[in-house]
Amino acid sequence: MLKIGIIGLGTVGSSVVKILKENKDIIRSRAGVEIVPAIGVARNLQKHQDLDIVLSDNADDVLEDDSIDMVVELIGGVERAYEIVKKALKKGKSVVTANKALLAYHRYELQEIANSQGFGFEASVAGGIPIIRSLREGLSANQIISIKGILNGTCNYMLTKMINEGVSFSEVLKEAQELGYAEVDPTFDIGGFDASHKLLILASIAYGIDAKPEDILIEGIEAINSDDIFFAKEFGYNIKLLAIAKKDGNKVELRVHPALIKKEQMIAKVDGVMNGVSVVGDFVGETLYYGAGAGGDATASAVVSDIISIARGESTPMLGFKKLITNELSLVEADLIETEYYIRMSVEDEVGVLSKISSIFTDYNISIDSFLQKSSKNSGRTSLLFSTHKCQERKIKEALEKIEKLHFVKDKPSMIRIED
Ligand code: HSE
Repeated sequence: MLKIGIIGLGTVGSSVVKILKENKDIIRSRAGVEIVPAIGVARNLQKHQDLDIVLSDNADDVLEDDSIDMVVELIGGVERAYEIVKKALKKGKSVVTANKALLAYHRYELQEIANSQGFGFEASVAGGIPIIRSLREGLSANQIISIKGILNGTCNYMLTKMINEGVSFSEVLKEAQELGYAEVDPTFDIGGFDASHKLLILASIAYGIDAKPEDILIEGIEAINSDDIFFAKEFGYNIKLLAIAKKDGNKVELRVHPALIKKEQMIAKVDGVMNGVSVVGDFVGETLYYGAGAGGDATASAVVSDIISIARGESTPMLGFKKLITNELSLVEADLIETEYYIRMSVEDEVGVLSKISSIFTDYNISIDSFLQKSSKNSGRTSLLFSTHKCQERKIKEALEKIEKLHFVKDKPSMIRIED
């Protein structure tokens, strides 16, 4: 018998208990041992009486109990969770966590401490989609060329509603919160931070690269407005918050930002609260993963899969590398990224505006691919919407800084990267 202590009994924790009880027999057959949710730790014990397990409001009742074999950490946050997980490992217990923030900051230390003890984190990225295992095991023969993920259900839900139903940003954010998709602090979702944590975990498995959220480009979806949606529709794009990892030689790009992607691409069809990940390997080609990235049951499904894997005695290296032979990879500076861009600016509708703007583009060797002008009636203002051919990010930023200073330009021009 394997006894589990679950620290954190929110939607995921409660669902872990439910799955372990309801699917007890099939889990026992698959794991080869009976797995028992022995104790749950929560702040409000009254709320969890119906789970029918021993309850405590003190994590030490799990950590100090030698009869508990495995700790499931589901409290979220970084430092307190790190202390709990370290203590559990030092006490010889295996650990399963869904905590992406913990891993974004401490995955390499935890790998050291866990060594050959079981440590599962499938639920930390894309909820119920088995993307960690796919990358670490199913694709282990390949050099990973790229990963493009829709890893935040809240943003995807919001962008889908904005594009398909014309709902405004603030309205749809309220809806996402009411539906319980968004994190407690929604800036964590809409600012791209949640997706960045997940991307860093995937990038470690793909490349063995160690980076923190502060090291990479992270932009959220806050600035997307109805003009951007108009342009996207007109030119056959969808807008998605993408988490991107790409390797070229010894250089790795890691970035999270909204992106225009052609509607025909498979990943562009991942709508609503769902997550999707496209992984391209050098021998396998493109593989695509789709499923629920949030929600108690889907996330708990991934947590329990880790519990079973540890119970079986599987010993895949935590981040997929037994020993890193070469580690010469470095991150590409954000300014050196090359891609196509969509640019929006609001200007006074007067003579000579376009020629002045296009001469700045010419100065920076930026070539325009398409252009739309969208006037708002009687305001005397118009929105200029451009897309460019491929160019370097630094040039776009410098050109936009110059354009912003022109007297007829109202508001700060904005840009969205186009991903092919
Ligand atoms: N807030 C996250 C999302 C939940 O919207 O995808 C899972 O990490």
